[in-house]
Amino acid sequence: MAILFDSTSRLFTLTTAHSMYQMKADRYGVLLHTWFGMKGSAFDYSYRIAYADRGFSGNPYDAGDDRTYSLDALPLEFPAYGSGDYRAAALKVRYPDGTSACDLRYLKHEIREGKYSLPGLPALYDAPDQEQQAHETPAPAGCGSRSDTLIITLEDTRRMFYVHLYYGVMEDLDIITRAVCVENHSEDDIYLENIQSVCVDYLHGEYDLHTFYGRHVKERNYQRSPLMHGSQSVGSTRGTSSHQYNPFLILSDRDTTEDTGNCYGFSFLYSGDFLGNAELDQYNQTRLLLGIHPDNFCYCVRPTERFYAPEAALAYSAQGLGRLSRIFHRAYRTHLCRGKWTAKRRPVLLNDWEGVYFDFDGDKLIQMARDAADLGIELFVMDDGWFGKRDLDVSGLGDWTVNVKKLGCTLKELSDQIHGLGLQFGIWFEPEGINEDSDLYRAHPDWAFTIPGKQPTRSRLQLLLDFSREDVREYIFSHICQVLDSARIEYLKWDLNRSLADLYSASLPAKRQGEVMHRYVLGLYDMLEKLTQRYPDMLIEGCSGGGGRFDAGMLYYTPQIWCSDDTDAIERLSIQYGTSFGYPVSTMGSHVSHCPNEQTRRITPLNTRATVAMSGTFGYELDVNKMTEEEKTIVKAQIREFKEYYDLIQYGDYYRLTDPNKVEAYHGWEFAAPDGSEALLCIVALQIHPNGPGRWMCLKGLKADSVYLVHGQKYPGDALMNSGLLLPTATEEYESFRLHIVECPAV
Ligand code: GLA
Repeated sequence: MAILFDSTSRLFTLTTAHSMYQMKADRYGVLLHTWFGMKGSAFDYSYRIAYADRGFSGNPYDAGDDRTYSLDALPLEFPAYGSGDYRAAALKVRYPDGTSACDLRYLKHEIREGKYSLPGLPALYDAPDQEQQAHETPAPAGCGSRSDTLIITLEDTRRMFYVHLYYGVMEDLDIITRAVCVENHSEDDIYLENIQSVCVDYLHGEYDLHTFYGRHVKERNYQRSPLMHGSQSVGSTRGTSSHQYNPFLILSDRDTTEDTGNCYGFSFLYSGDFLGNAELDQYNQTRLLLGIHPDNFCYCVRPTERFYAPEAALAYSAQGLGRLSRIFHRAYRTHLCRGKWTAKRRPVLLNDWEGVYFDFDGDKLIQMARDAADLGIELFVMDDGWFGKRDLDVSGLGDWTVNVKKLGCTLKELSDQIHGLGLQFGIWFEPEGINEDSDLYRAHPDWAFTIPGKQPTRSRLQLLLDFSREDVREYIFSHICQVLDSARIEYLKWDLNRSLADLYSASLPAKRQGEVMHRYVLGLYDMLEKLTQRYPDMLIEGCSGGGGRFDAGMLYYTPQIWCSDDTDAIERLSIQYGTSFGYPVSTMGSHVSHCPNEQTRRITPLNTRATVAMSGTFGYELDVNKMTEEEKTIVKAQIREFKEYYDLIQYGDYYRLTDPNKVEAYHGWEFAAPDGSEALLCIVALQIHPNGPGRWMCLKGLKADSVYLVHGQKYPGDALMNSGLLLPTATEEYESFRLHIVECPAV
């Protein structure tokens, strides 16, 4: 059992393959956090806590005249607002009497076999479902991972309120999950003003905080900074996890590198507003909080009702950031993404967006599909512009009826023709969006988020539908289904092209408007769940103007997400580099587009665009009809090569070898087979220097005592890893190389 409880000391020790997490209900029933980090003996680590008389840090009444016991200084597992701990709290409630102070004490606990799930919310799961197992190629490592659940119940000393802390211990995956459920036991409504899913209190303060910031077309830039006294936070109040900050954070020792040192990853399985906050306190202790952003949140929990705060996944690595990422990669690939496409080979696709934008008809699409089929592409995706009155992005959203006039045929006829060419067929939707110039808005203006008496905030000249409302969701769902049922459609791109504003739901009374943002996310999840159940074979790709909703919550429903609207291969290096810290390459939608690039006007070699796109789900997004014969020959070879390396790239171990933002000349990354038998080294020359020095790259994940073949040359594994491989010399700007490294058979 990965969960031990010592009833004498009321000590909970949770262990995974390499990590340990420990809590203790102390003599007052306060739940202390005593350890998260390296796995060790199940000893009571509360011996590390120093008790002292702390001026201006109060003492609970039941501590009597013990002035050394103060919640303000102790490492707490789930600190509540108002009872003498003045750091950022994990919980703030408003009780029927208008007060907010809450004092939580241990009541009971329960240990269960297997991993808990959460109603209406994404959560990591134990064993893959049957559908998934049937398609495993090869069996992803970690399948059927053993998990256990611990639920600790805390009680508010006034007995109005219970807090159930959920822990999932996923032993083989090296992951500990957390979630929280609160229960109202009073006779009146209780308002939740803040509930964080995770709090981890460290007794130390010498940490770096790693976060991922960005903007539209430049998501998830990596940032590392030392923690200073006070709070440092990232978050979103946009209704989505956002382009601006990602709900994935890392704390590390100051000297932690890619391969060495302690680090702790915190990933929030949620697609709406979030807050990640690290606080260095007066005693040089660190508190890390992660949960729903409290700004747009005030949730009414009625008597006997429960509220579930979303799950977060935690991991610890003693071998640096690279190993931490690989823990998340494996867990998300095999125990977060669901359904057939989790382990089944995904098709190489052609998306028509950057090729034709809104300017197409059925004949044009067929012409593109014909060339695509010839190139070895497997799926043709018709992006925006096929429905309603939609020849520009100013109208039509919400009217999910096929524009037969524009296509010149029905959807079924188009899909049949595309299938006749040997391709699968996919289609774009933006279910949450609505244009004022649409039949839907004219019929139901109150379905869009608008505040009565206020002019709405437009973005991309559109509004958003109130997905917190079931009637709105049902209407959109039934119209999407009508389209999907009218033709053979194997892929759906679920897009969202603006942030939320003007929150007001006509379905809720004034005092419950603070629930709208969270209910919107629950509504989104509800609809995605229904969609995946009704169309279990469909591959769904998430998108929000590129990577505006690239989070672990969405990955539960959509196993891949369009990583960014920036398709420039060089820009993508840092976007995909940043994304790789928390998410596997199998989730990163990535396409080869034409040059000069649409976003940057930069010209990069076609080979380099493929090197970068192959380190993701791989596809093309251009007008194939405009390609030269020479380009077509290159593309055919690229697709063949990707198919050959598919397992290595998608299921292999991913290693960041350099940081593209810091590297002087050659940027590199690598995929290694988990057994070290082969690797693919990818290199992009960011600068070329005539008469330049030699360049080497040290490989990782090989077997030190094996011999490897690279381009007909033999090298010992330890030489490749310690001394490095001499790289080919780039003769052209942004030239790239993909080098296959294979273990020689033992003689
Ligand atoms: C968003 C997506 C693009 C494309 C357009 C269509 O920007 O990120 O890939 O689908 O919408 O309008």
